[in-house]
Amino acid sequence: MNCTNNDPATILVIDDDPSIHRMVARIFRHQPYACCFADSGPKALADLERVTPDLVLLDLSMPHMDGFEVAEKIKVVEQMRHVPIIILSGLSGMDILPRALGEYADDFISKTADPSEIIARVQYHLNRKRVLDQMHSDQQYYHHTISLTSAQLALALERLKDASLEVIWRLTTASEYRDNETGAHIQRMSHYAAAIARRMGLKQKTVETILYAAPMHDIGKIGIPDRILLKEGPLSDTEWQTMKTHTTIGAAILRGSSIGFVRLGEVIALTHHEKWDGSGYPNGLKGRRIPLVGRIVALADVFDALTSKRPYKEAFNIETAHRIIIEGNGIHFDPDVVRAFFAIQDEIREIKARFQEGPASLASTPLAGPIIYRQDLPTGRPMDTTGRKATSISV
Ligand SMILES: [Fe+2]
Repeated sequence: MNCTNNDPATILVIDDDPSIHRMVARIFRHQPYACCFADSGPKALADLERVTPDLVLLDLSMPHMDGFEVAEKIKVVEQMRHVPIIILSGLSGMDILPRALGEYADDFISKTADPSEIIARVQYHLNRKRVLDQMHSDQQYYHHTISLTSAQLALALERLKDASLEVIWRLTTASEYRDNETGAHIQRMSHYAAAIARRMGLKQKTVETILYAAPMHDIGKIGIPDRILLKEGPLSDTEWQTMKTHTTIGAAILRGSSIGFVRLGEVIALTHHEKWDGSGYPNGLKGRRIPLVGRIVALADVFDALTSKRPYKEAFNIETAHRIIIEGNGIHFDPDVVRAFFAIQDEIREIKARFQEGPASLASTPLAGPIIYRQDLPTGRPMDTTGRKATSISV
């Protein structure tokens, strides 16, 4: 294949007759097109690897490979899919026109046609291709732009989510500093809760939301006076009533958010001390009237409190914690939640091992590192997770 000039619009002429090459060159000698010539289909197809024409003038009657076969092979070349093919044939148009235009070509011109007609047809198809190429280019540009913008938006949303999580996490940590000295309670209990939720068949998105929301369960303690929250020894009835309000205070702090895990945090804060038998607080909800997430977090919170070592007590061993949870099955805890909890003991032990007590770090996140927490649990006597005595197993 060789070309007659360097104009960007290139016409490929495939014809075994050299006189047709000369005729086409003569017709287009004053037109702003480059003409490339091939005397057979195989040669033209071989050259398509290095030259992509803008239009093909194709003879039908050629030895070895006729024009139909050549057109068929051209159309499967990726960069040639949208290149117009004009049949330039000496055969009768009425005989081959339906087949030629129906399957292979975009137009048909007789070799005996007037040169002005040939030029006009070629110009029409080149202009049409130019418009289509521009549309295709614009589509690719917009597709690329949309993809890029979507990726940037997704990244921005992810960063915003991370920022929101970090702010919530640090505020939660700040509230925990008031009455906790050591530990990774928040991380463990939130992972326990997520693991139980996953075992109970909740959707992954919900499980993830629980993981992020559970750390906020006690955020309402920020509203409990130090003289009560930090008091050593038993609380009076009045003080105990005040302590219970950490649930409603927490819910009030988190109320009205448009962020999913904060809204779930509100539910958790309000309901994590409710009990299956209705003896919990603040509303004495019973059974499935307690939101499932509250029932899940209740068990996760208590289990971690039971198995955590504190300066003033040793951790209960897991067997003892299991016994206490079994004793609370159907009383304090939802039996379905208890069943799920015992079904994932390998994962529970893995979480417990992963988030060991250690030095407090404000750089911690819900997914890694220790967090400050103090459970005021005297050895041998289950207490409420607020750190005060309770009347039953409500650690
Ligand atoms: Fe609590």
